[in-house]
Amino acid sequence: MTGPLSFSGFLGSRVHLGVTGSVAAYKALDLLRLLTGAGCSVSATLTESARRFVTPLSFQALGADPVFGGMFKEGENPFGHLAPGKTAQVMVIAPASANTLARLANGLADDMLSCQALAFSGPLILAPAMNPNMWAAPATRENWTRLLARGVRGVEPEAGPVACGDQGQGRLAALSEIQAAVLRALAPQDMAGKRVLVSLGPTREAWDPVRFWSNASSGLMGASLAVAAWLRGAEVTAVAGPAQVELPRGLTRVDVTTAAEMHAACLDLWPRMDVACMTAAVSDFRPEPYGDTKFKKDKAADGLTIRFLANADILKDMGARKKKGQVLVGFAAETSDLETQARAKLKAKHLDMVVANRVDLPDSGFGGSNNTVCVLDRRGRLEHWTALPKTEVAWRIWDLLPQL
Ligand code: CTP
Repeated sequence: MTGPLSFSGFLGSRVHLGVTGSVAAYKALDLLRLLTGAGCSVSATLTESARRFVTPLSFQALGADPVFGGMFKEGENPFGHLAPGKTAQVMVIAPASANTLARLANGLADDMLSCQALAFSGPLILAPAMNPNMWAAPATRENWTRLLARGVRGVEPEAGPVACGDQGQGRLAALSEIQAAVLRALAPQDMAGKRVLVSLGPTREAWDPVRFWSNASSGLMGASLAVAAWLRGAEVTAVAGPAQVELPRGLTRVDVTTAAEMHAACLDLWPRMDVACMTAAVSDFRPEPYGDTKFKKDKAADGLTIRFLANADILKDMGARKKKGQVLVGFAAETSDLETQARAKLKAKHLDMVVANRVDLPDSGFGGSNNTVCVLDRRGRLEHWTALPKTEVAWRIWDLLPQL
């Protein structure tokens, strides 16, 4: 599993997964896999209607334990309706039907899942799925508002085509959104109250309408940092160059293309931030633009020389404007002399910490899911980390924040 949500450090956490009657019930099996993949142990309850769409056996086979069904069956634990409240840190109901929302909003306790939800005092996450007319119905709106006002965490459905062929808001949210909400509810909230800026991905500098200058940055390192900070409670703004990375809805995303756009966005945001971590692989140069029409190759039969102009150094400009109390972390992409280059960049750009990585080795840098880094802070602390998933590198970087 790769991606900015593939954190695996949730071993020992217990999640209770409720599944209700909806065509989207099959998606709960994938959610179960995402949660066990993050290290969580998961128990589950399938309502009677859910069991018409999916079977308890599938959940058991994918590791859910125990899987609850109806209440008060002979030979079964008579206190199953209280079990998640005693053992799980988070309860998530996905998909949550309109009927389930109505039951929960009114405090009904007439089946196993509604009893378990009523007896659960930890974070409750609801991811509804239903026909768009049912979602828009005044009764459902009222139930949803009441549930949110009570502190329930909602992962609202998406707009699009639904199973019956209708269009509108009602499709179960992307599983990554539900997974993100669960992980955030489980994570320590040690970055709560911090405003964090992360730059990520490459920048792209056009030469003519069909050609540009860029690099192979995937944006995964920055996305992992942005998501990790958000999971730990921070308010996060990600300034993203053209990279194919998904970020949970809870983060603010500012999409940019060129280094100049990234420079403007980051410098505008920086005065309102507590922390910035600049991972973007910014193009240091941009080609002098050819113009608005496509360059034809017969104009350069003997080869082509393009002049490049220098771009501003975003991180350096932020370092020069850093106020007391702000923390600035930079990256250093290198192909040699990791430590020497890291020290030079730490000093030249007024950083509190620099994370240097080799971009010419397997298991490190652009493109892959792992990174091998060395971390140097302004007090002289130096650490070399072995190859780790980028998500784990991100988590460890934020662990160092209180010491900066
Ligand atoms: N950076 C930046 N703006 C630039 C270039 C780099 O903000 N125009 C930031 C990167 O996001 C990274 C750090 O500066 O956090 C170091 O980037 P890197 O590419 O390693 O080094 P450069 O400063 O560009 O220097 P060089 O390419 O000569 O190593």
